[in-house]
Amino acid sequence: MTGIEGRYDELLAAGELRPDPDQAAAVVALAALQSQLERGAPKRGFFARLSGARAERPRGIYMWGGVGRGKSMLMDLAYESIDFGPKRRIHFHEFMLDVHERLRVERTKESGDPVPPVAAQLAAEARLLCFDEMVINNTADAMILSRLFSHLLDGGVTVITTSNRPPDDLYKNGLNRELFLPFIALIKERLDVISLNGPVDYRLERLAGLPVWHVPNGPAATEALREAFFRLTDYPVEDAANVPVLDLAIPGGRALRVPKALKGVAVFSFRKLCGEARGASDYLAIARNFHTVILVGIPILGPENRNEAARFVTLIDALYEHKVKLLAAADAQPDDLYVSGDGAFEFERTASRLMEMQSADYLAAGHGED
Ligand SMILES: Nc1ncnc2c1ncn2[C@@H]1O[C@H](COP(=O)(O)OP(=O)(O)O)[C@@H](O)[C@H]1O
Ligand SMILES: [Mg+2]
Repeated sequence: MTGIEGRYDELLAAGELRPDPDQAAAVVALAALQSQLERGAPKRGFFARLSGARAERPRGIYMWGGVGRGKSMLMDLAYESIDFGPKRRIHFHEFMLDVHERLRVERTKESGDPVPPVAAQLAAEARLLCFDEMVINNTADAMILSRLFSHLLDGGVTVITTSNRPPDDLYKNGLNRELFLPFIALIKERLDVISLNGPVDYRLERLAGLPVWHVPNGPAATEALREAFFRLTDYPVEDAANVPVLDLAIPGGRALRVPKALKGVAVFSFRKLCGEARGASDYLAIARNFHTVILVGIPILGPENRNEAARFVTLIDALYEHKVKLLAAADAQPDDLYVSGDGAFEFERTASRLMEMQSADYLAAGHGED
């Protein structure tokens, strides 16, 4: 497997990436971690074990910075390059949902503190954990994270994570924040904190000048969205080898098939997303997992489409609240999509959101930011 430095240099040479000093520094740190992990744990001699000295553990990496700085890109590159397993890459929010579900199961066993056994399960399943978009905004997460991560790190798990914030700003102004502070201390002690805050928002740059709402559905719209997909991901949408189908896990155990997904960009048809029995949990999972959604085939809706219209409203609310960028092909401008039928009056709010989602401010905002 090629090292992350080699992969990064290839992408620079191919013109997919532009030189960026902050990224270059992060790549050096990631490459050092890669070689440490791939070299394997040093064999510890008898006396070292006897003296109880802690084995040298690889430090994890915490990359933080503004939107579009390449945090997810670098983490994906590290995840793919590092030959060390088992490994797991997961959006932080989905990880915490998984953790709480495991804690719930553990508590039914009534055998004391549920955190250590859950950490042990997680550590057995992945020795390298890569999180995208670490953010803590609820007390339930805040109160267990320090203990959970202590156990994970002590259990030999290495963590690479991205975040929009430096560690000191995690769970800022949160309830009982003093109980959360040990987690921040733990991060600083056991992870290298690296900032990616160069002047360029590469995502915005790639979106620049691209219209996002295309009317009507048809070859011109399709071509424009193909071009947008390529600009955002560097791959043609029909390149099946590089643009996989993805089954997105929905809390509650179902899955949602994403026909095309790459680098945080997902492509859906209106028919699949709003024409079938889907609901808020599907749309929230999409909104959390993708920074950009390309939605094709939005028709003009009439009174007979009230279910589709209601689902579309829920979808747009989820995308809007998570600042997901929407590129779409539709048969009408937002104001003219659903003018008569149940909920057509309430649809005006959705139409107004769809207009705002085309604004420069919205397009420049970070994914998931308040
Ligand atoms: N150095 C770079 N040159 C050109 N494009 C880049 C560079 N770094 C990242 N990108 C692209 O910019 C977009 C945003 O990167 P991403 O990793 O999603 O940012 P973040 O996670 O920091 O918000 C992606 O399409 C990514 O491939
Ligand atoms: Mg990202």
